[in-house]
Amino acid sequence: MPAELSAEPSTEESSEPSRHRPSPAAGTMRAAVRERYGSADVVHVADVPRPLPRRGEVLVEVRAAGLDRGTVHLMTGLPLLGRLAFGLRRPRNPVLGMELAGTVVAVGPDVTRFVAGDEVYGAGRGSFAELAVASEKQLARKPANLSFAQAAIVPVSGCTALQALDLARAGADQDVLVTGASGGVGSFAAQLARARGARVTGVASTAKTDLVAAWGVEPLDRGTQDWADGARRWDVVLDVAGNPPVSSLRRALTPGGTAVIVGGEEGGRLTGGLGRQLSALAVSPFVRERLAVVLGVTRAADLDRLAALLEAGDVVPALDRTYPLAEAADAVRALEAGAVRGKVAVVP
Ligand SMILES: NC(=O)c1ccc[n+]([C@@H]2O[C@H](COP(=O)([O-])OP(=O)(O)OC[C@H]3O[C@@H](n4cnc5c(N)ncnc54)[C@H](OP(=O)(O)O)[C@@H]3O)[C@@H](O)[C@H]2O)c1
Repeated sequence: MPAELSAEPSTEESSEPSRHRPSPAAGTMRAAVRERYGSADVVHVADVPRPLPRRGEVLVEVRAAGLDRGTVHLMTGLPLLGRLAFGLRRPRNPVLGMELAGTVVAVGPDVTRFVAGDEVYGAGRGSFAELAVASEKQLARKPANLSFAQAAIVPVSGCTALQALDLARAGADQDVLVTGASGGVGSFAAQLARARGARVTGVASTAKTDLVAAWGVEPLDRGTQDWADGARRWDVVLDVAGNPPVSSLRRALTPGGTAVIVGGEEGGRLTGGLGRQLSALAVSPFVRERLAVVLGVTRAADLDRLAALLEAGDVVPALDRTYPLAEAADAVRALEAGAVRGKVAVVP
């Protein structure tokens, strides 16, 4: 049976160091917010109303929140196309952040899988805060062997990587190339492909090739090597970073090979490179390579699949470091500067 809906935060003692906890009386909580779209300079800590779980939703005391690229897009409001969903003139939800790991405080009506006190991970609305609500469908039990910070960097990046590999039908004895392998999606994609028995090449900048090599992945230094020069071909290319033209993806594939476009920055202010993805889909039926596009969704079933792999040690979250909530803007600046190895987490 689900715990009765209550806005009261958990009073259970934590095994982690003491930290600020929301005051039940205040009705507010601390959060990293932005009232308008802009650079990391618009992000600041403020007291905001505590969220309440609606039907099918869970209220989570956030113990750590992952910083993913999508959160940066929601901060800047770029590409502009995204504002249709998240607020045209200003963000509808001022609280930043999606990925989270924490403890269930209360559940809304019709929630069947969780009760207060459960340790969970997944995606919520506004996770850079002491409390966040998440759909039950986007939460799963936190892998027991991970810290909250490690678990918090998994949900969006890990599910996207898993779904990209599924779409590519990547498996054992295949040669798989992952671009952006040292980043959020790429770090999971490279390790997940290795766990499937594939031979994996991971593209990274010179300073991060050691990170990629540590997973048993062959690093390809993008500072000195061009993976798309046609000298070498892979059965699967996961295109996570760099916005290569569709012709480059095709040149890097074996006949009948599959490229899955995940994303890439610098795709333009309006659509963020949607045109490249649409042209890949348009060309695919007429060429010998298969070209596909993934739209990652954080869902419970895939979080459970990831948890099994994480608990088996087949995949280890590449947690660079954590930032306190008050330094959330610095975490974003580090990501934008390319200074993050893997991912970072914000701890309220
Ligand atoms: N389709 C979806 O559902 C979905 C889901 C999540 C993310 N995305 C998108 O996928 C992309 C990657 O997301 P992420 O969270 O993995 O980002 P990330 O953590 O910033 O990782 C991207 C990596 O790309 C590398 N990189 C930077 N500039 C590059 C360039 N010019 N050429 C090649 N590599 C470059 C960087 O590593 P090095 O410095 O080592 O090269 C960086 O670690 C983003 O555009 C994001 O919006 C899409």
